[in-house]
Amino acid sequence: MTISLNTLENIVRKAGDIALTHFKDLQNLEISQKSPRDFVTAADVAVEKFLKTTLFEHYPQYGFWGEESGKTENQSQRWIVDPIDGTHSFAKGQYFWSISVALEIEGQLIFGAVFAPALNDYYCAKKGDGAFKNGKKITVSGETDLGNAMIATGFACLRAYLEDNNLERFGRIAQRTTGQRRFGSAAMDLCLVADGQVDAFWEQELNLYDVAGGALIVLEAGGTLTDFKGNPGIFPKQILATNGGILDALLTLM
Ligand code: IPD
Ligand code: CA
Ligand code: CA
Repeated sequence: MTISLNTLENIVRKAGDIALTHFKDLQNLEISQKSPRDFVTAADVAVEKFLKTTLFEHYPQYGFWGEESGKTENQSQRWIVDPIDGTHSFAKGQYFWSISVALEIEGQLIFGAVFAPALNDYYCAKKGDGAFKNGKKITVSGETDLGNAMIATGFACLRAYLEDNNLERFGRIAQRTTGQRRFGSAAMDLCLVADGQVDAFWEQELNLYDVAGGALIVLEAGGTLTDFKGNPGIFPKQILATNGGILDALLTLM
């Protein structure tokens, strides 16, 4: 069966319904720690189980890599899934969390979908066909002055107890920009760059499942994806997404 963005949206929205069922019953939400500062809940597990089963029913030719259940045998043509990106925010009853789904074929991202059920915002992209939010085409911002820019970041590196923990970098950049945000879902951070709501996002120590869906959406919205030195590509351990207009100025501060 060929994949349509509509079919994918129906599946991801059903996953969102499962997440919201748990979100509306947080007092009974089972939560555990995978490692210090890293949580998993019954909602993460339930959403991933639904997506793994349903995507296989529709598209048995593809493998699967999910944050909570790991990798199936076929990893050359695979779905890459973060069932709930922003689990800590989810568990605290905040609205900024998302479901991230991407299809990667022979190393190329073909489909990306990031859904924020509590906000009812659905972002998606198909390679070569543009990026969309709730069915409307989106593009990155036109901001070219770093001094006027709003940037977003995250601190996965703190969880990894890295020496380069992003705090000095954040301080340098915060002093030279107008707005700074830490939303709590890397997948959504990337969609906000694609939608022009922020002008750039960077983070270290992520995983491909955090960023695969949002990365394609950024690229299809006309944004840039590089590492902190400006090398083009998707580098989950050192990802920098921008609107293009502030890339060079930002690289001097990374
Ligand atoms: C987390 C979010 C957060 C980022 C963390 C990630 P998770 O994903 O993307 O924004 O800063 O590093 O782990 O763990 O909630 O799926
Ligand atoms: Ca994640
Ligand atoms: Ca997750």
